[in-house]
Amino acid sequence: MAKLIDGKVISTQIKDEVKAEVSKLADSGITVSLAVIQVGADPASSVYVRNKKKACEYCGIKSLSYELPESTTQDELLDLIRELNGRKDCNGILVQLPLPGHIDEEKILDEISPLKDVDGFHPMNVGALSIGKKGFVSCTPAGVIELIKRSGVEISGKECVVIGRSNIVGKPMAMLLLRENGTVTVTHSKTADLKAVTNRADILVVAIGKPKMIDASYVKDGATVIDVGIHRGEDGKLCGDVDFESVEPKAGAITPVPGGVGPMTIAMLMKNCVTSVDLQK
Ligand code: GUN
Repeated sequence: MAKLIDGKVISTQIKDEVKAEVSKLADSGITVSLAVIQVGADPASSVYVRNKKKACEYCGIKSLSYELPESTTQDELLDLIRELNGRKDCNGILVQLPLPGHIDEEKILDEISPLKDVDGFHPMNVGALSIGKKGFVSCTPAGVIELIKRSGVEISGKECVVIGRSNIVGKPMAMLLLRENGTVTVTHSKTADLKAVTNRADILVVAIGKPKMIDASYVKDGATVIDVGIHRGEDGKLCGDVDFESVEPKAGAITPVPGGVGPMTIAMLMKNCVTSVDLQK
């Protein structure tokens, strides 16, 4: 039976560490603040935004909330970002994605000051990660690294396989595992023999966006399996990209869905808000 990697417990530890750091900063007169911008009222985005604001409250981070109508123009949003870039009382800026179709996401994300880019999406931060310089790291892959490390799983020298090559998860995930001295392979939809590659993995990170696609036949005995996917199944229950029932008896350690990677993303966002104070010094 695999060890269950509990994202709820580990994310609470991280938020408690952030809370202590925020309180220390407050003692020296520094307030940590995050601007959260949502355009439109996509229900899934509203849930994420609400959870981000709740986490801010838990950690003692001041949240500046911008709930803008669907009709907001690209120029209006760019103006707001420029204003927040210049404000001393705003450390982090988060624009919840997806944005309405009439707004160019790339233009918006590029406008956020790299020093306030707590999502780690700005090309400057993506570049900084790839050459090992200080900067913001995308929250989900950063959370995966914390889950692995805090579960006592060694990354150095291990075969690490990432399934998926998105800019938000797969690519930064590969960079982070490499930074931890893993031997990293990134697979994707054109990989010729996916099973042959994944069966080499000591650490398998799955971010393909297909419900329960990865069963035991993809997994080496004793591997650590991290499931980044989250889907609502036909039975109404949440599931990941990994078929948990099939993989769990074979894995050495595994994250559940829900309660694995999900809570870590927000915890790492909180951690990035504290980092922002340091980067802006
Ligand atoms: N939408 C879904 N995930 C994310 C995220 O991590 N950051 C932002 N800004 N939007 C998202």
